[in-house]
Amino acid sequence: MSYIKWKSTYSIGIKVIDDQHKKLIEILNDLFEAHKLGTRKELITSALEKHTDYLLYHFKTEEDILRENNCPGLEEHIEEHNIFRSQISNFLSDTKKGNLLLSIKTIDYLKDWTINHILGTDKEYGEYLLEIELGKIF
Ligand SMILES: [Fe+2]
Repeated sequence: MSYIKWKSTYSIGIKVIDDQHKKLIEILNDLFEAHKLGTRKELITSALEKHTDYLLYHFKTEEDILRENNCPGLEEHIEEHNIFRSQISNFLSDTKKGNLLLSIKTIDYLKDWTINHILGTDKEYGEYLLEIELGKIF
């Protein structure tokens, strides 16, 4: 069984973002599997690197959409991303240096942050964009 299973409640209704969130969950599942397989540093590091790279790419996509559509709460949303950006880059550099042995607690933290962010902040802008599309705004 997967560590995280995609649920329809995670959908924010914007296809490009839902697809990226699904991919992000897949990458978190890979990270969990890499951790389960043992303590080989290279394996964990490359899974963590993949997670960091994809997350940065995803945040950029989201922020471009938020800016293009003047979504309310733009600055706060970017600030949330920035805090997480700096946390994950610390996790990655500490893991590379051998200062951090990625624990299940850290992986759980990445998972919880991601799911809570999707269900909270991301859903809010998803609803806003859907309302624009339905012509309820503008
Ligand atoms: Fe977001």
